[in-house]
Amino acid sequence: MTHAHLTTLVLALIFLIIIAVLQNKGKNIKIWHMILRTNYILVMVTGFILFFTSYSIPLSYYFKAILGILMIGLFEMVIVRKQNGKPTDLLWIAFSIVFVVLFVLGFTLPQGIDLLK
Ligand code: HEM
Repeated sequence: MTHAHLTTLVLALIFLIIIAVLQNKGKNIKIWHMILRTNYILVMVTGFILFFTSYSIPLSYYFKAILGILMIGLFEMVIVRKQNGKPTDLLWIAFSIVFVVLFVLGFTLPQGIDLLK
Protein backbone atom coordinates (compact mmCIF):
# COMPACT_ATOMS: atom_id res chain seq x y z
CA MET A 1 0.00 0.00 0.00
CA THR A 2 2.91 2.37 0.58
CA HIS A 3 3.72 1.92 -3.09
CA ALA A 4 0.19 2.85 -4.07
CA HIS A 5 0.39 5.90 -1.78
CA LEU A 6 3.74 6.91 -3.31
CA THR A 7 2.42 6.40 -6.84
CA THR A 8 -0.53 8.69 -6.20
CA LEU A 9 1.84 11.31 -4.75
CA VAL A 10 4.13 11.19 -7.77
CA LEU A 11 1.06 11.51 -10.02
CA ALA A 12 -0.18 14.50 -7.98
CA LEU A 13 3.18 16.21 -8.43
CA ILE A 14 3.26 15.52 -12.17
CA PHE A 15 -0.26 16.92 -12.60
CA LEU A 16 0.65 19.98 -10.52
CA ILE A 17 3.71 20.64 -12.71
CA ILE A 18 1.59 20.30 -15.87
CA ILE A 19 -0.97 22.72 -14.41
CA ALA A 20 1.70 25.25 -13.36
CA VAL A 21 3.26 25.18 -16.85
CA LEU A 22 -0.14 25.60 -18.53
CA GLN A 23 -1.04 28.46 -16.15
CA ASN A 24 2.21 30.25 -16.99
CA LYS A 25 1.34 29.95 -20.68
CA GLY A 26 -2.17 31.28 -19.96
CA LYS A 27 -3.77 28.04 -21.16
CA ASN A 28 -6.90 26.25 -19.94
CA ILE A 29 -6.19 23.95 -16.97
CA LYS A 30 -9.73 22.67 -16.39
CA ILE A 31 -9.25 19.03 -17.43
CA TRP A 32 -5.88 18.65 -15.67
CA HIS A 33 -7.33 20.25 -12.55
CA MET A 34 -10.18 17.72 -12.62
CA ILE A 35 -7.72 14.83 -13.01
CA LEU A 36 -5.64 16.16 -10.12
CA ARG A 37 -8.73 16.45 -7.92
CA THR A 38 -9.69 12.86 -8.68
CA ASN A 39 -6.16 11.86 -7.76
CA TYR A 40 -6.57 13.52 -4.32
CA ILE A 41 -9.20 10.88 -3.56
CA LEU A 42 -6.62 8.16 -4.28
CA VAL A 43 -4.01 9.93 -2.12
CA MET A 44 -6.51 10.03 0.76
CA VAL A 45 -7.81 6.48 0.30
CA THR A 46 -4.29 5.00 0.22
CA GLY A 47 -3.27 7.26 3.14
CA PHE A 48 -6.24 6.18 5.24
CA ILE A 49 -5.63 2.50 4.44
CA LEU A 50 -2.07 2.93 5.75
CA PHE A 51 -3.50 4.79 8.75
CA PHE A 52 -5.96 2.05 9.70
CA THR A 53 -3.58 -0.82 8.90
CA SER A 54 -1.67 0.06 12.03
CA TYR A 55 -2.77 -2.13 14.96
CA SER A 56 -2.57 0.67 17.50
CA ILE A 57 -2.50 4.04 15.79
CA PRO A 58 0.47 6.13 17.02
CA LEU A 59 0.09 9.88 17.61
CA SER A 60 2.53 10.56 14.79
CA TYR A 61 0.00 8.98 12.40
CA TYR A 62 -2.62 11.59 13.33
CA PHE A 63 -0.04 14.30 12.70
CA LYS A 64 0.87 12.69 9.36
CA ALA A 65 -2.81 12.47 8.33
CA ILE A 66 -3.61 16.09 9.30
CA LEU A 67 -0.52 17.38 7.47
CA GLY A 68 -1.43 15.19 4.46
CA ILE A 69 -4.87 16.76 4.27
CA LEU A 70 -3.38 20.24 4.75
CA MET A 71 -0.97 19.44 1.88
CA ILE A 72 -3.90 18.74 -0.44
CA GLY A 73 -5.37 22.10 0.65
CA LEU A 74 -2.07 23.77 -0.33
CA PHE A 75 -2.12 22.04 -3.74
CA GLU A 76 -5.54 23.61 -4.31
CA MET A 77 -4.55 27.03 -2.96
CA VAL A 78 -1.48 27.45 -5.17
CA ILE A 79 -3.54 26.57 -8.23
CA VAL A 80 -6.65 28.61 -7.46
CA ARG A 81 -4.81 31.74 -6.25
CA LYS A 82 -2.63 31.73 -9.35
CA GLN A 83 -5.78 31.32 -11.44
CA ASN A 84 -7.24 34.42 -9.75
CA GLY A 85 -4.06 36.39 -10.41
CA LYS A 86 -3.14 36.61 -6.72
CA PRO A 87 0.45 36.27 -5.39
CA THR A 88 1.50 32.70 -4.61
CA ASP A 89 5.10 33.14 -3.40
CA LEU A 90 4.37 32.62 0.31
CA LEU A 91 2.07 29.72 -0.46
CA TRP A 92 4.81 27.98 -2.45
CA ILE A 93 7.13 28.34 0.53
CA ALA A 94 4.50 26.78 2.83
CA PHE A 95 3.91 24.13 0.16
CA SER A 96 7.61 23.17 0.05
CA ILE A 97 7.97 23.07 3.84
CA VAL A 98 4.88 20.87 4.40
CA PHE A 99 5.92 18.65 1.49
CA VAL A 100 9.40 18.03 2.89
CA VAL A 101 8.03 17.43 6.42
CA LEU A 102 5.53 14.90 5.00
CA PHE A 103 8.26 13.01 3.16
CA VAL A 104 10.52 12.93 6.21
CA LEU A 105 7.59 11.75 8.36
CA GLY A 106 6.40 9.24 5.75
CA PHE A 107 9.81 7.64 5.42
CA THR A 108 10.63 7.59 9.13
CA LEU A 109 7.28 6.20 10.31
CA PRO A 110 7.14 2.42 10.86
CA GLN A 111 5.42 1.13 7.69
CA GLY A 112 6.71 0.88 4.16
CA ILE A 113 10.08 1.90 2.79
CA ASP A 114 12.40 2.93 5.62
CA LEU A 115 15.23 5.06 4.25
CA LEU A 116 16.95 5.29 7.63
CA LYS A 117 17.59 1.55 7.94
C1 HEM B 1 -0.12 15.18 -0.71
C2 HEM B 1 -0.23 14.69 0.51
C3 HEM B 1 0.67 13.61 1.08
C4 HEM B 1 2.04 13.40 0.95
C5 HEM B 1 3.06 14.25 0.17
C6 HEM B 1 2.35 12.16 1.68
C7 HEM B 1 3.63 11.58 1.76
C8 HEM B 1 3.89 10.31 2.27
C9 HEM B 1 5.12 9.56 2.14
C10 HEM B 1 6.36 10.03 1.36
C11 HEM B 1 4.96 8.39 2.80
C12 HEM B 1 6.00 7.27 2.94
C13 HEM B 1 5.67 6.11 2.03
C14 HEM B 1 6.55 4.91 2.30
O1 HEM B 1 6.98 4.68 3.45
O2 HEM B 1 6.76 4.14 1.36
C15 HEM B 1 3.64 8.36 3.39
C16 HEM B 1 3.11 7.38 4.19
C17 HEM B 1 1.91 7.48 4.88
N1 HEM B 1 0.92 8.44 4.67
FE1 HEM B 1 1.03 10.00 3.42
N2 HEM B 1 1.19 11.66 2.24
C18 HEM B 1 0.15 12.51 1.90
C19 HEM B 1 -1.18 12.38 2.25
C20 HEM B 1 -1.65 11.53 3.24
C21 HEM B 1 -2.99 11.52 3.77
C22 HEM B 1 -4.14 12.44 3.31
C23 HEM B 1 -3.04 10.57 4.72
C24 HEM B 1 -4.30 10.27 5.50
C25 HEM B 1 -4.42 9.50 6.48
C26 HEM B 1 -1.71 9.94 4.81
C27 HEM B 1 -1.31 8.93 5.68
C28 HEM B 1 -0.12 8.20 5.58
C29 HEM B 1 0.24 7.06 6.42
C30 HEM B 1 -0.61 6.48 7.55
C31 HEM B 1 1.50 6.60 5.98
C32 HEM B 1 2.31 5.42 6.53
C33 HEM B 1 3.36 5.90 7.47
C34 HEM B 1 4.34 4.77 7.76
O3 HEM B 1 5.25 4.55 6.94
O4 HEM B 1 4.22 4.13 8.80
N3 HEM B 1 -0.89 10.56 3.89
N4 HEM B 1 2.99 9.55 3.03
